[in-house]
Amino acid sequence: MFASATGDGPDLISRLNSLNLEGLRGEYARQGSFLYVENFLPPALTARLIAAVGGMSGLVNRNYLPGHKRGGSVSRHVIDAQAPIIAELYRSTALLRWLEQLTGERLQLSPRGDPHAYALYFYTRPGDHIGWHYDTSYYAGRRYTLLLGLIDDSSCRLDYQLHTREAGIPTVSGSIKIAPGGLVVFDGDALRHRITSSLPGETRVSLTFEYVTDTYMHPGWRLISNMKDAFGYFGFRQVFHRFLSGRK
Ligand SMILES: [Fe+2]
Repeated sequence: MFASATGDGPDLISRLNSLNLEGLRGEYARQGSFLYVENFLPPALTARLIAAVGGMSGLVNRNYLPGHKRGGSVSRHVIDAQAPIIAELYRSTALLRWLEQLTGERLQLSPRGDPHAYALYFYTRPGDHIGWHYDTSYYAGRRYTLLLGLIDDSSCRLDYQLHTREAGIPTVSGSIKIAPGGLVVFDGDALRHRITSSLPGETRVSLTFEYVTDTYMHPGWRLISNMKDAFGYFGFRQVFHRFLSGRK
């Protein structure tokens, strides 16, 4: 049973308690550290998250990496100022404990300076997409990604390939749409995935959380990670804002 704690709504706790954790854990393991759960979030919580996103369209950082990705992103730093409900959910003790039981890992929140800790991805213009990739961990340990569907009036799909890095296990391909309230969770270095291109008039907004097993990152990898985030996601101001504002 998942007990109440700061930041955990009772409806989220009862939803977590209602899930068949044992069954989901088996599915997660069979799929090489990947799981999709429809209607994961309580509908009222999904509605509150969608409402929080509504006021953020003017704060989206557009990015374009030719041949790889195009879209809009909002980093944790903007979310902290504009949508604290998202930060509260990210820090939910009940959610974290549930994820630990699912993955079998001791999970930690991403460090304060990581703009990916919680972020929003916007697919709002024709051709917004991200090509095949892994969510590579630059940390000393593993990096787990959560995707939570919020708005999906689009034809975009999450295409994925399981077991690509497991010797002797055939690769399995799949494709899903993450409906509002749906959850995808995976080990970033295990799942090869992409989001297919949006078409004219379509809108898709997804929320992503990142948890790690070790918060240490070698300074060299930190620089590479920051540069990638600055060019590919959030812009220099967001990624380096701690340095620009003189905060550590
Ligand atoms: Fe990804």
